[in-house]
Amino acid sequence: MSDESADRTGVDEPTGSTQELWNEHADWWTSEFTDGVDPEYTEQIVPLVVEAIGGPGRILDVGTGEGQVARALRASGADVIGLDPTMSLLATSRARDGAVPLTAGVAGALPTADGSVDAVLACLVFEHVPDVGPALAEVARVLRPGGRFLFLLNHPLLQTPGSGWIDDHTIDPPEQYWQIGPYLPEASTVEEVQKDVFIRFHHRPLSTYLNALRAEGLWLDRMDEPAPPPGFLAQTPWYTEAATMPRLLALHLVKRPA
Ligand SMILES: C[S@@+](CC[C@H](N)C(=O)[O-])C[C@H]1O[C@@H](n2cnc3c(N)ncnc32)[C@H](O)[C@@H]1O
Repeated sequence: MSDESADRTGVDEPTGSTQELWNEHADWWTSEFTDGVDPEYTEQIVPLVVEAIGGPGRILDVGTGEGQVARALRASGADVIGLDPTMSLLATSRARDGAVPLTAGVAGALPTADGSVDAVLACLVFEHVPDVGPALAEVARVLRPGGRFLFLLNHPLLQTPGSGWIDDHTIDPPEQYWQIGPYLPEASTVEEVQKDVFIRFHHRPLSTYLNALRAEGLWLDRMDEPAPPPGFLAQTPWYTEAATMPRLLALHLVKRPA
C-alpha cells in the first residue's frame, strides 16, 4: 500500500528473519504510515475495515502493529484485541491508546481460545507471515462458526517481487508504467522499501491464498479491489495509470457454519 511495497526493490541475498527486520525497522512503519499521515489508511483502509466488521463484537486484530485499525474498531464499539510479534510496535500502540488489550504473538500460534471471536482482521500482515496454511488454520480455529475474517493484502497480482513504477526517459517518447515481476512463483525476499530500510515479504499467487482459505472452511463472501483513494492519487499526479491499478485486495470471508 502506500505501504511498505510502494517500491519493491529486491535485495539479492536475503538476510534477517521477518521478525528481526520488523523490530529493526518499526519506526519506519510508524512514521510513514500511521497516525493519519497515510491517505490509503485514512481514506480507504480504516473506513473499509470499520464498515465491514465494526460495531459490537469480539475482534482479534492479527498483526495489529501500532494499533491504528484496532483503535478505529474500538471507537466503533467493538471489543478488539491486538496481537503482534514486534514489541516496539506494541509499545507504541499502548502509548497511543492503553485501552486496547494487546498480546505478543504470531499468526501461526494465536493465544486465543477455539471459537471465541466474532471476527478476525489481518491488515497487510500475511505478506510477512512465512507459513500461510498454519496461520489460516489458526484464524479458522479462533473464529466462531459464521464468524468473519477480513483479510487485507497488498494486491498480490500487482505487487509482486520486483514490481514498481517505471519512468523510462531513455526512450522517445518517455514511457511510464507499472512493472510487474514474477507472479506465479512463491518467493521470500528482503526488499529495500526505503533507503536502508529492509523488510521481508512472502509473495504468493492469489490461488494459493484462496485455496488455503477454502481448505480451512473460510469461504469467500465478497472481494474488493478498490482504486487508490484521492489522497494517494494527489501525491502522484504524474502517474496517471495509478487510478486504474488497485493496490489493495480485500477478501471478506465467513467461517463455515458448524
Ligand atoms: C504492514 S504492518 C501492518 C500493521 C497493522 N495491521 C496496520 O495495518 O496498521 C505488518 C505487521 O505485521 C506484523 N507481523 C510480522 N510478522 C508477523 C507474524 N508472523 N504474525 C503476526 N504479525 C506479524 C509486523 O510486526 C507488523 O506490525
